[in-house]
Amino acid sequence: MITVETVADLRHTIARWRAAGERVALVPTMGNLHEGHLDLVRKARSLADRVVVSIFVNPLQFGEGEDFAAYPRTLLDDSDKLSAVAADLLFTPPVDEVYRRPRSEQTRIEVPGLSGQFCGASRPGHFVGVATVVCKLFNMVQPDLALFGEKDYQQLLVIRRMVEDLAIPVTIHGLPTVREVDGLARSSRNGYLSDAERTIAPVLYRQLQQTVADIKQRKHDLAALERQALSRLEAEGFTPDYYAIRRAADLAEPGPDDKSLVILAAAYLGKARLIDNIQLDLE
Ligand code: PAF
Repeated sequence: MITVETVADLRHTIARWRAAGERVALVPTMGNLHEGHLDLVRKARSLADRVVVSIFVNPLQFGEGEDFAAYPRTLLDDSDKLSAVAADLLFTPPVDEVYRRPRSEQTRIEVPGLSGQFCGASRPGHFVGVATVVCKLFNMVQPDLALFGEKDYQQLLVIRRMVEDLAIPVTIHGLPTVREVDGLARSSRNGYLSDAERTIAPVLYRQLQQTVADIKQRKHDLAALERQALSRLEAEGFTPDYYAIRRAADLAEPGPDDKSLVILAAAYLGKARLIDNIQLDLE
């Protein structure tokens, strides 16, 4: 596996692959890789001739007081893991390779509507930071396809919308969330959990499953189900941020004819902000 830090080196290698007619996949990450990321790389391997992984802890998607400085940076370990799953190129740009100007002067990408609710409401500016860096990575790598986890469901929708609206020639693949055996969604932020919090954390996913079961048993007062879920999470020791049953395609309030739904949840457990979701099809 080649590791490069500059856009010039990245483009130099990719140009050689392109000249040989090879298809390129990109897996954008912020590092501290876990099975969820490695699953994306394995899938990318099966879909393209070459796999590029970026590791960049993107300052633009962190707000004031968030964990940008504390975010786990484990480059050597990540690099070993990527070699083991046969990634071809690791792109680890320093901040000034991605952002040439001060934050206040950055050109930004905004996906209004979708970005303003849920994680976007709790973390103002977060999705502008995500859309901007992902757009820049797409321009730097110019991949044929890019892969993202469904754990960050809202992020995936924001990226799909950006790609559609800006006519970016890349195919987006969303992959199912990879979970621990007890159901907890794999996340770099799980490392913030204490032992005691780690035993409580899987309740978030169990609650999502419970809401699915309730909806399937024709309990159609969705607002009541959301309230029940929030109370249960609070009773278990979480500080919930949101719990919402929405239309899967665009996160709008579902109407009676909507059959494809997603239940989105975010809750704090100690220092860790856990997010998860579950999709359900009523067809
Ligand atoms: O999901 C992530 O790790 C990040 O939001 C992403 C997509 C790599 C952009 O920084």
